[in-house]
Amino acid sequence: MSKVTVVGAGNVGATCANVLAHADAVKEVVLLDIKGDFAKGKALDSMQQAPIDYYSTRLTGTDNYADTANSDIVVITAGIPRKPGMSRDDLIATNAKIVTSVTRSIMEHSKNPIIIVVSNPLDVMTYAAHKASGLPSSRVFGMAGILDTARYRAFLSMELNISPKDFQAVLMGGHGDTMVPLPRYTTVSGIPITELIEKDKLDAIVQRTKKGGGELVGLMGTSAWYAPGAAAAQMAMTIMRDENRIFPCCAQVNGEYGLKDMFIGVPVKLGREGIVEVLELKLNEDEMALLNDSAEHVRQVMEVFEGMNS
Ligand code: NAI
Ligand code: 2OP
Repeated sequence: MSKVTVVGAGNVGATCANVLAHADAVKEVVLLDIKGDFAKGKALDSMQQAPIDYYSTRLTGTDNYADTANSDIVVITAGIPRKPGMSRDDLIATNAKIVTSVTRSIMEHSKNPIIIVVSNPLDVMTYAAHKASGLPSSRVFGMAGILDTARYRAFLSMELNISPKDFQAVLMGGHGDTMVPLPRYTTVSGIPITELIEKDKLDAIVQRTKKGGGELVGLMGTSAWYAPGAAAAQMAMTIMRDENRIFPCCAQVNGEYGLKDMFIGVPVKLGREGIVEVLELKLNEDEMALLNDSAEHVRQVMEVFEGMNS
């Protein structure tokens, strides 16, 4: 694999392209934006960082889909981010049209790419991209769980004063306030998290994680980009390196967890062909109830999307 296109050269897209370049794992990164000069500028700035940070990845910016031809992986970050007071779901009217048209344009120039969706509302934008692409669901999925578990692990690391490197966790559900962090599947170098932290502190961190995106919107007036851009890049690198790593991703469910015909956060194995497998954990009754609540919320946003198209 040698070519990654990132659509949307804004905060998340440019960060993703820059992180990918630093990994030096791909020959070419194309940054596409409707603001072509903006994309060219971001790519040129990253190229000028290469002699300082030592990478050989070639970055180019464009507004022309012909330049994305034969991409192995496409990361879609195009769309508007939320402002204070908005939920991710408030973005649907604008972003659904953008994600659908971007996906169609990509498919005119690349036969069989893997598409990683980042634009919000994430679960439904992933559904929209899958529908517009005609690709199998193993090749279209969304980034949210890596970001949301990273927030959860960062908060735990800060609370316990233990390196963030040592936290492992699973989180499921939609990318919104109904997401389901799973303390039962959270460990610190193999030690169950419940042995290291009091219940009330853990509960508070779970709640803070669920509203983690909103906390940053409140602080910055727009949504986050360093962690989201790095998370999308991590997915792309895992695919390029055919690593078969396990990550929470927004994937199509076909009966797993009793859910189907929708895209939602579940643990998956990621490799060269995209989603190799959706892992089915043995959730207890409480965890299943939370997941079902979250799925119900995602379904409501899906209905809004389907209503827009009818
Ligand atoms: P941004 O405003 O900085 O960048 C978006 C870029 O998309 C802009 O440069 C804009 O010109 C471009 N764009 C708009 N329409 C386009 C089109 N039709 N074709 C090509 N480019 C187009 O926004 P930011 O902060 O980068 O966020 C991007 C999206 O990612 C938002 O929808 C945001 O909510 C979402 N997001 C999702 C996360 C996740 O975990 N899934 C995390 C963070 C952001
Ligand atoms: C985030 O969680 C807004 O989805 C974006 O930061």
